[in-house]
Amino acid sequence: MKILRKISETRKITSALILRKKIIGFVPTMGYLHEGHLSLIKAAKKKSDVVIVSIFVNPLQFAPNEDFTKYPRNFKKDEKLCRAEGVDYIFYPDIKEMYPDDFSTYITVENVSAGLEGKIRPEHFRGVATIVLKLFNIVQCSFAVFGQKDAQQACVIKKMTEDLNINTKIIISPTVRENDGLAMSSRNVYLTPGQRADAAYLYKALEYARRKIMLENYNRDIAFLKGQMSKLIKSRKTATKIDYISFNNSRTLEEVQTLKNLKSASILISLAVRFGKVRLIDNIVIKR
Ligand code: PAF
Repeated sequence: MKILRKISETRKITSALILRKKIIGFVPTMGYLHEGHLSLIKAAKKKSDVVIVSIFVNPLQFAPNEDFTKYPRNFKKDEKLCRAEGVDYIFYPDIKEMYPDDFSTYITVENVSAGLEGKIRPEHFRGVATIVLKLFNIVQCSFAVFGQKDAQQACVIKKMTEDLNINTKIIISPTVRENDGLAMSSRNVYLTPGQRADAAYLYKALEYARRKIMLENYNRDIAFLKGQMSKLIKSRKTATKIDYISFNNSRTLEEVQTLKNLKSASILISLAVRFGKVRLIDNIVIKR
């Protein structure tokens, strides 16, 4: 496994791989890898000749009041995990390499970026889309794997590749969960033991909605479901604020007002909840 710090060296290597008709699978990450990331790497390995993982905490996707400087980092551990998974290259640039002083081009994906996370973190997806397009251009991958956990991010990236005719296939891999259902996330390390126990209620609330919808054959109204989910989450002392609980079309992210008369659409049920300073997101998709 080789660690690449420079864009020029990385492009030289990936261009040579492409000439040799190698399939390059790519997993973009911000490091502090956990089982969720490893599942993305495993998915990439299955379909590629060469796997590249990028590790870069992207300042552009954090607002000034967010946790960029505090975001957990442990490159030595990440390196070990990647080696154990059989990763071929880690692209590990520094900030100046990715954003030189005169950097001034940004990608905005409208509509799908606007709601849910976009409402609360207005610059976030502009930062994500910009770095992901840069990474695609650098690693020149055939496909890239993203996690369903960041459902809106997955929609934004898919739309960007579609709209800009980017020759990279986007694969979305299922969310990996702890035994009690909590979605794996690098931010889970910030949780106190009490918050950690309560955080499992996010998935319980999502599963409650799924069960109710199935049992009652899509006849329950969404306001009722949101109310019950909210009650369940608020029953936990450390859940300090629900930013949103939302039902959306899983592809367009348009808000869904009713489940009745839904034909083939699949519905994304997503939520964001704060446990003190720690903000967690999760989602499930239900298919009619
Ligand atoms: O999902 C993440 O870790 C990041 O948003 C990504 C895709 C690596 C871009 O910085």
